[in-house]
Amino acid sequence: MSSGRTPDAGIGACEIRRLGVLISGSGTNLENIAVKIEEGYLRARIAVVISDREDAYGLVRARRHGLQAVFLDPGSFPDRVSFDRELIRVLQENRVDLVILAGYMRMVSPEFVEAFRHRIMNIHPALLPSFPGTSGVADALAYGVKVTGVTVHFVDEGLDTGPVILQDTVPVLPGDDVESLHERIHGVEYRLYPEAIRLFCEGRLRVEGRHVRILGEGGEESIGLA
Ligand code: GRF
Repeated sequence: MSSGRTPDAGIGACEIRRLGVLISGSGTNLENIAVKIEEGYLRARIAVVISDREDAYGLVRARRHGLQAVFLDPGSFPDRVSFDRELIRVLQENRVDLVILAGYMRMVSPEFVEAFRHRIMNIHPALLPSFPGTSGVADALAYGVKVTGVTVHFVDEGLDTGPVILQDTVPVLPGDDVESLHERIHGVEYRLYPEAIRLFCEGRLRVEGRHVRILGEGGEESIGLA
């Protein structure tokens, strides 16, 4: 029986997706994604890497992998809206399908969210909605939680409030400091972010309100993780 789907419109049809990665700092997640592409785990291409900081080490990592790496200076724009308009322009010029925030330390404007609705992902080093904001690791540690983790989510107009795609836990160990805890969190990030991007690239994510459904390989809903 025919499924009624054309071969290239099917789930998992694996068209090569073009990623735009925004960074502000070290860029280890960016580099990990670049490696996953090189290894063939991800059928995607990083079309452009953009940093809002000239000294972001992630720009060096990007160039080492032969990627187009651009510094956009927020100081040369009158406000966030005009800076974000230039970001949108560069991303669209590079025909980006999915925007990846990887340690990007600025909130994006509503106009930016609208331009790439459900096509912007962020990774957060805590289990949202706990400990949003820029110091999620330190805040979890200070609170005294026994378990924290990693969240990959779509970006909406709020601060770390968008629909959750994947989460995983990281135990807080006796004697942990911010550095040791963040190191173990990074380890989970290097697995979770490529997994979420892969699901997107395979057309297996459906956003329904606050809920992100993960479709199985044949198009049926998956109850676990892929
Ligand atoms: C990551 O821990 C991520 O969760 C947070 O910023 C950090 C970026 O690290 N949003 P890196 O620049 O990828 O090393």
